[in-house]
Amino acid sequence: MRPEKHTGLSRLWRYTAGRHGRIAAVMVLAAVSAAAPVVGWHLVGDVVDHGIRAHNQTRLAIDVLAYVGINAAAWLLGSTTWLWLARIGQQVVFEVRRDLFEHLTSLSLRYFSQQKAGWIIARLTSDVDALSDVLNQGLTTLVVNTLTLIAAIGGLFILDWRLGLVALCVTPPGILCTRWFQQTSHVAFTDVRTRIAAVTAQLAESVAGMAVVQAFNRERAFQREFDDLNEANRLANVYAQKLSSVFFPAIELLGIVAQVAVLYAGARLISGGSLQIGTLIAAVGLLNLVFQPLQELSELYGQVQSAAAAMVKISSVLDAEMDITDKPGARPMGRIDGRLQLDRVTFAYGAEPVVHELEIDVPPGGCIALVGESGGGKSTTAKLIARFYDPLTGAVRVDGTDLRDVELRSYRRQLGVVLQDPFLFSGTIADNLRFGRPEATDDEVRDAAAAIGVDRVAARFDEGLDHVVREGGAGLSAGERQLISIARALLADPRILILDEATSNIDRPSEVLIEKAFDRLLSGRTSIIIAHRLATVRRADEILVVEHGRIVQRGSATQLLAQAGPFRRLAETLTGAAAA
Ligand SMILES: Nc1ncnc2c1ncn2[C@@H]1O[C@H](COP(=O)(O)OP(=O)(O)O)[C@@H](O)[C@H]1O
Ligand SMILES: [Mg+2]
Repeated sequence: MRPEKHTGLSRLWRYTAGRHGRIAAVMVLAAVSAAAPVVGWHLVGDVVDHGIRAHNQTRLAIDVLAYVGINAAAWLLGSTTWLWLARIGQQVVFEVRRDLFEHLTSLSLRYFSQQKAGWIIARLTSDVDALSDVLNQGLTTLVVNTLTLIAAIGGLFILDWRLGLVALCVTPPGILCTRWFQQTSHVAFTDVRTRIAAVTAQLAESVAGMAVVQAFNRERAFQREFDDLNEANRLANVYAQKLSSVFFPAIELLGIVAQVAVLYAGARLISGGSLQIGTLIAAVGLLNLVFQPLQELSELYGQVQSAAAAMVKISSVLDAEMDITDKPGARPMGRIDGRLQLDRVTFAYGAEPVVHELEIDVPPGGCIALVGESGGGKSTTAKLIARFYDPLTGAVRVDGTDLRDVELRSYRRQLGVVLQDPFLFSGTIADNLRFGRPEATDDEVRDAAAAIGVDRVAARFDEGLDHVVREGGAGLSAGERQLISIARALLADPRILILDEATSNIDRPSEVLIEKAFDRLLSGRTSIIIAHRLATVRRADEILVVEHGRIVQRGSATQLLAQAGPFRRLAETLTGAAAA
């Protein structure tokens, strides 16, 4: 009826695979400890009827000793159960988190450009927390209370079946209440998860874009947006709690009704001489043992609903299709010679293709430049070459092999990419340089840094290359980040190098320096340069002018400048840009 809830819980159950033996062992312990209070109440009844009222001191002593012994054993078993179940629960939480992270790192860029970062973070934080809540105490509550409930009902019937039947009178209204709560709260708890994710998503986006928010005086508007989401989250939680506030007291009320009924019937039976007072006391005690777990179980039900809803959301990440994966039998790529071909490559992010039938052929060690207005499809082409996306039709081939037929890792290991907006990780500058080749020696790091001019950036700091960069490279200028990311690619010593506007934010003096480093950067490897500086694109063996996803002109710089055409028009702005 509600398939969603089932996928959530059954998936959670699958995570316990391999631990069913241990869970069964814990259940046995829990069953024994759950039976203890039931036996306890039988002993209390026995003390009253056969110890106190019969003036039997020996019976009294035996009963009291048994009572103490049983409860001590129950305490020991109870705490063992608690610990074991919590261990299993935390292991499951650990594995869910690990799987989430692992899956995220294998998803393609397409996924990350479609999902808000905060939405993804909410899956790993608040949703996993909801699971953790249930698995921590929830599993114990569930097992111990269910067993206590069964034991108490059984114990009541063994004690006196007539009183047992009387107590059952509250079952039908109890079932009705529970059905109602199940149905309404499922919707409510799913809503709560959606709302909290929206709050987290907005928060993450605002933090990332705070400078822009403040620069454009959008604080108030953002505040209002946040307030709305926060308010919606509050209301969703209040509604869920409102349901609980009706349901739990109702169950408690039913418990009282059952108790009154049992007391009344018991009193009649005692007057009739067919029941002893001690048995009635024990029956009332056992009835408490029925309703207290029932109460706790219904509270748990809310948590389980919440966890099931969380698991459904988590599943949506875990089930997100990995569209860029190794196909079965993908071959590892040996050392790449560097022939790069795009064979009639067409690609679309959505419905409209953004690159059409691209034909590119670069010989090993060759260098091509892509130029053109922004939005033309240059970065997209670079991403297709890096296999961040697969072409819709056509193929990207390296050394004659379709990239879809090779092991992605073996290809990327030989690929250097400097993206348009480079990202640095928290850690030292040297750590960031080593990102693509962690085993690089200090000398190699220093050498790469010097070749690109990162040494001059590092000289600004007391610690030099050991200066700690904050997440994303905050604390460095955009140009400095670009320098570091170019040196990072150089240090990785790739066979194919892609530079996507890698020098766009670098100031003139550094740029002149980099121009010199380009010889070394490009020598002996195939390279694709996307740039706006004429001096940079002149290096290319072939320049491709890209407009609206199509190559409209191609040739060497000298050839292209000799023709009247798009490149000449562009060259005027290129040179202009360089002078600015
Ligand atoms: N992740 C994306 N999702 C959807 N459309 C995109 C995405 N990235 C780029 N585009 C679109 O694809 C076209 C080409 O973009 P891009 O390759 O970045 O151009 P260029 O690098 O030449 O400026 C643009 O119209 C852009 O809006
Ligand atoms: Mg671009």
